[in-house]
Amino acid sequence: MFRDSQPRTIYLKDYRQPDFLIDHTELYINIHPGQTRVTSMLQIRRNPNVADASSTLVLHGQQLELLNIRIDGVELPKNRYRVTADELHIDDCDAAFTLETEVLIHPEKNTSLEGLYRSRTMYCTQCEAEGFRKITYYLDRPDVMSEFTTTIEADNEFPVLLSNGNLVAQGQVEGGRHWAKWHDPFRKPSYLFALVAGDLAVVDDSFTTCKGREIKLRIFVEEKDLNKCDHAMRSLKNAMRWDEDVYGREYDLDIFMIVAVDDFNMGAMENKGLNIFNTSCVLAAPETTTDFAFQRVEGVVAHEYFHNWSGNRVTCRDWFQLSLKEGFTVFRDSEFSADMGSRTVKRVEEVSWLRTAQFAEDSGPTAHPVQPASFMEISNFYTLTIYEKGAEVVRMVRTLIGPELFRAGSDLYFERHDGQAVTIEDFVAAMSEVSGRDFNQFMNWYRQAGTPRLDVRGEYLADKQQYQLHFHQHCPATPEATEAEKQPFLIPVAVGLVTDNGDLPLTTDGKTEQVIELTDTDQTIVFNNVPVQPVPSLLRGFSAPVKLSFPYSLDDYSYLMSHDTDGFNRWDAGQRLAVALMQQLVEDYRKGAPLVLDNRLVNAFAAVLADANPDKAMLALILTLPTEAYLSELADTVDVDGIHYVRQFVRAELGQQLAQEFMVVYRTASEALSAMEYQPSAEQIGLRSLKNLALAYLVAGRHTDSLSFTEHLLADSANMTDTIAALNCLLNDSRDEAKALVPDVLESFYQKWQHESLVVNQWFQSQAMCSLPGGLERVQQLMEHETFDIKNPNKVRAVIGAFCSANAVNFHRQDGLGYQFLADNVITLDRLNPQVASRLLAPLCKWRRYSNERQQLMKAQLERVVAVPDLSKDVYEIARKSL
Ligand code: TRP
Ligand code: ZN
Repeated sequence: MFRDSQPRTIYLKDYRQPDFLIDHTELYINIHPGQTRVTSMLQIRRNPNVADASSTLVLHGQQLELLNIRIDGVELPKNRYRVTADELHIDDCDAAFTLETEVLIHPEKNTSLEGLYRSRTMYCTQCEAEGFRKITYYLDRPDVMSEFTTTIEADNEFPVLLSNGNLVAQGQVEGGRHWAKWHDPFRKPSYLFALVAGDLAVVDDSFTTCKGREIKLRIFVEEKDLNKCDHAMRSLKNAMRWDEDVYGREYDLDIFMIVAVDDFNMGAMENKGLNIFNTSCVLAAPETTTDFAFQRVEGVVAHEYFHNWSGNRVTCRDWFQLSLKEGFTVFRDSEFSADMGSRTVKRVEEVSWLRTAQFAEDSGPTAHPVQPASFMEISNFYTLTIYEKGAEVVRMVRTLIGPELFRAGSDLYFERHDGQAVTIEDFVAAMSEVSGRDFNQFMNWYRQAGTPRLDVRGEYLADKQQYQLHFHQHCPATPEATEAEKQPFLIPVAVGLVTDNGDLPLTTDGKTEQVIELTDTDQTIVFNNVPVQPVPSLLRGFSAPVKLSFPYSLDDYSYLMSHDTDGFNRWDAGQRLAVALMQQLVEDYRKGAPLVLDNRLVNAFAAVLADANPDKAMLALILTLPTEAYLSELADTVDVDGIHYVRQFVRAELGQQLAQEFMVVYRTASEALSAMEYQPSAEQIGLRSLKNLALAYLVAGRHTDSLSFTEHLLADSANMTDTIAALNCLLNDSRDEAKALVPDVLESFYQKWQHESLVVNQWFQSQAMCSLPGGLERVQQLMEHETFDIKNPNKVRAVIGAFCSANAVNFHRQDGLGYQFLADNVITLDRLNPQVASRLLAPLCKWRRYSNERQQLMKAQLERVVAVPDLSKDVYEIARKSL
């Protein structure tokens, strides 16, 4: 990567329509190992909607070698055009013309995995956000939508040639080569273009739409992975049906294809009719795939499929609107997964993730609004804020207007903007129109960064039989705005009032839950006819992405854990109880005081362990202590060692004091499961998560039988969920007997699975996350392993990423060598793959949250990174903003 000058910042306020449009795009892509030729014929015309359109056409293009350039069939004289590092300028253009260019590119040398690149035995593309410009000269911006015809020519050793849309012709060429021509009837921006050439096997199926059209479904994988496609295919068909049932959206082309690629920067990509997936997000089989990964496949397959409407048929005007497609689509896939499995479990999982990682982003140096006002490198904006907070904002729209009007708004949005590139404002306008509601204040959720704080107090007036809730909201400063500059948010707060006799009726028609809409900085809500002092259940279902505080007592938490009728809030009460106790213990640890676990947590856990609730996944979630990452997010200054020590202490105490109970749960769940054939069903996933959690507590409590349980599970399990759970237990078991087993276990695991790349990644990740001392040395050794490959993002994430973001005690070792390790790798990766390098850097950017000594060490490494000459825009932007 190279940089000519200081990277430029691009602003939303500077948006201008394009001066030119491209009606038709015809591509000829001639793949030759060593050099690939791309010829493009573009039918261009001046944009009639731009009054002062320039006559100079400026096309994007990077790392292209221009061989030929013609306008209307005539070679262009040298004085009519200029080529720069990332643009092609053509002067004195007519109102309409055909531009033909021929360029040379080198996919085999493309390690950025953006544009056209080679991955193992295949060639494939990744064009979002701005990768198409590495394939040919183009107006590579989403508001230029064109009809594409693509011809691919390659050697016969790449028998499968795919692009968007329908196959219209194919044939043989002399010299052992062949070609295929594809036509996509739907106009689309260049970021949705895709092509694949490879030696791939295929799984075929079909889907009949609600209108009776038969759609061909094809999943392309390497031959060895043919047995791992069933789950993705089933998920795809479920997603297609769900989008018809819930959103009234039918698939449009006659064929829908998925291709699995091993080298991929993200999870998957929604290219029109030809989704390209990271193998980790599409392949699944019981022996090789954990329950967690099964669920991820289902979610990602659905996510990409749903983009066909929310993203492709209606796309984004510019990249500031990214959350228009991503926030909405995450909301859609989240509801799909909730319908496929357990709704409350899904909600708890996504909120834990949001509160841990997105809240941290929102309070750090790279905090940005869901609709950002500026960026340097758009690849840096595929963030938790755009995706997860964006989905929460869409969820609030539905909460505010109700599901029926939300569906009507969605219908209007799709109908009105079909075939267009639009804005977040257009989406909200549709919701506003069908509901007659004013969304002006609501737009603050899109335009202001930061997580709002909501401080609540309750007041019971017995004489008036009245209960009052006093709310105060404020939003801390973020890089683009001070606290004083922030406008109040419209916050929907779902409330219930819990008493010994159940929830109080809150509305005249007897409803026990009410959505309060806060609009002011300070607001009081009065409930009448309240016979006894209730315990308020606030923000049910996590109705808004805020940090809520209420002066609950520890006993209130215990009370809500058993009495709240909202499943999400029952879980949250348990979390709040554990957080409160653990924060106190961290304080005791800091003072050198002895640690004693409060009985309330033990009793609460005992009650949950005795609970006959059939939703075992929910029980497992309630029994899972807040993570180190979440406790760190909540802390003012992160006490890395204290948090780790305390969490281990509490786990060990619970494991010991409740050994009997955990043993019963472990045995019961094991027996139940042994009677069933493995299925990644919600029921079984719940049972396994509860069973493996019980095992982890028994190990933490050093139960004498626990090591043999682990060993048995490792030896006998026929599914990867149990295998990895046991491996993690063993790797983190500090007993000498356990440590003695580790080398052989790791070696035989590797021998068994060395040909399954995704399993080897699990094996890497478990080791990288082992929190026992010596983590850095272990990770450095893993990087020397024969299968480690720094060019493969999945390997980098499994080893370096897992270590730096999910092994806090080792990464934050006192001597700062963990930080140096990360900086070294970011610098190496920046040359190879800037997108991956930039994401990897995130843990160093949180330096302000740590102690003085650590701050200095972290900052020094960040400064080292920024000082590297010719740093990519990607890494530069993130490092610069963090300093
Ligand atoms: N649009 C993709 C999704 O959310 C994200 C994506 C895939 C992506 N590959 C990428 C974003 C590469 C940036 C760069 O489904
Ligand atoms: Zn997406």
